[in-house]
Amino acid sequence: MSQKIRGVKGTRDVLPLDTYVKDDDPWVRVGHFHRVEQSARDLFPLYGYREARTPILERTELFVRGIGEVTDIVGKEMYTFDDRGDSVTMRPENTASLVRAYVEHNLQQQEPETKWWYLGPMFRRERQQRGRYRQFTQIGIEAFGNPGPRIDAEQIEMLDRWLRTLEIPFGMHLNTLGDGTCRPRYREALQAYLRSRADELCEECRKRTETNPIRVLDCKNPKCQEVAAGAPSMEAFLCEPCKAHFAGVQDSLQRLGVKYVVDPKLVRGLDYYTRTTYEAIATSGLGAQSTVAGGGRYDGLVKELGGPDVPGIGFAAGVERLALLVAQQGREAVVRPVVFIAPLGDAEAAKADQLAQELRAAGLSAEVSFRKANPGNQLKRADALGARFALVLGDAELKEGRAKLKELKSGAQHEVALAGFAAEVRRLLGGSP
Ligand code: HAM
Repeated sequence: MSQKIRGVKGTRDVLPLDTYVKDDDPWVRVGHFHRVEQSARDLFPLYGYREARTPILERTELFVRGIGEVTDIVGKEMYTFDDRGDSVTMRPENTASLVRAYVEHNLQQQEPETKWWYLGPMFRRERQQRGRYRQFTQIGIEAFGNPGPRIDAEQIEMLDRWLRTLEIPFGMHLNTLGDGTCRPRYREALQAYLRSRADELCEECRKRTETNPIRVLDCKNPKCQEVAAGAPSMEAFLCEPCKAHFAGVQDSLQRLGVKYVVDPKLVRGLDYYTRTTYEAIATSGLGAQSTVAGGGRYDGLVKELGGPDVPGIGFAAGVERLALLVAQQGREAVVRPVVFIAPLGDAEAAKADQLAQELRAAGLSAEVSFRKANPGNQLKRADALGARFALVLGDAELKEGRAKLKELKSGAQHEVALAGFAAEVRRLLGGSP
């Protein structure tokens, strides 16, 4: 026998199987993903977001300039390769890509305010652990052209509503990182402080002190956290416009009735943020990788990537993490067959295929048994599939043109005509599909 080929480390298969067991996430099935995705598709358009799809491959330069050279993502996590002279990268996130599309298609000339949502795979070469993968899925939004602060609050309220619809236990964390006027002053003060306590920091944070000192604030190392606890806070350095913006966001959130906590340690891992940042953090069920969504304002990014001076704000949520939480609730979006049809012989098989075709044309799901088995076993299979009705077709049913349709849950038998079968099934279903 030839050797088996295994999937790439950090990637996962999401299957509809009931008994599939792999690694530490044995129970996450595709139906859990559907529940997460469908709720977003239903909700986001209510806030004016329309779907945008951009390629997985982008020029490497887009992320280097967009996300920032000194970030972990650009520094060590990108899947980059040479495409006959062009350096291309499999997108590690989608904000830079949407900004590229926004600039490339001159959207600011066509519509002053653009609201986009997206769903798709992202790629980062991270250390694999529960809730952290090298290929993962994000659902996100970006809004261009609103200097805020009401759009900030509107997005946070939408995220809050979405997670509550999914019945996820979470807390909403909010912070501000200032802007080009006040952040450099803060960065300097923070750097001076961190240098003074450099010998207490982990090796990575000693490096970060010089390259990206704000990231030291969210290091998980307990010693670094101790140092971070004594660090100067951004709040004291905010310029007046940033202060007013942050107050505006909080006013709006309070008016909209959204609960949040101000979290000065929320600094985010990408360099493009200005002013508002926010994260939804699961309060149970996920372990270390508990941030289910994160985002913020990036007022300089469109310009940085060659576009006009247009502000932007957005968030992205990790679909795997949300699906894990939904799976723990045992909730799943599944399409079960309405009718399971089991023909007993060849003549009946042809009739079964035709009835199934009729049902599907009427918008009802049908499953035909292609196996030869006795009626008892066929009914067992119908039950395992979660079918609503089972129809066993034998010689007598074919001759009489009538059959007994068994309702699996109650065991009730309904006598139905095979002519106009789909309409009969619809009648039995009443209002419910
Ligand atoms: P991010 O914080 O890097 O932000 O990712 C957003 C979310 O994606 C995280 O909170 C997490 O749920 C999920 N995620 C990230 N990395 C992984 C991974 N390796 N495995 C599984 N899930 C992961 C961004 O990507 C920004 N583009 C968000 C944004 C949009 N900011 C403004 N607009």
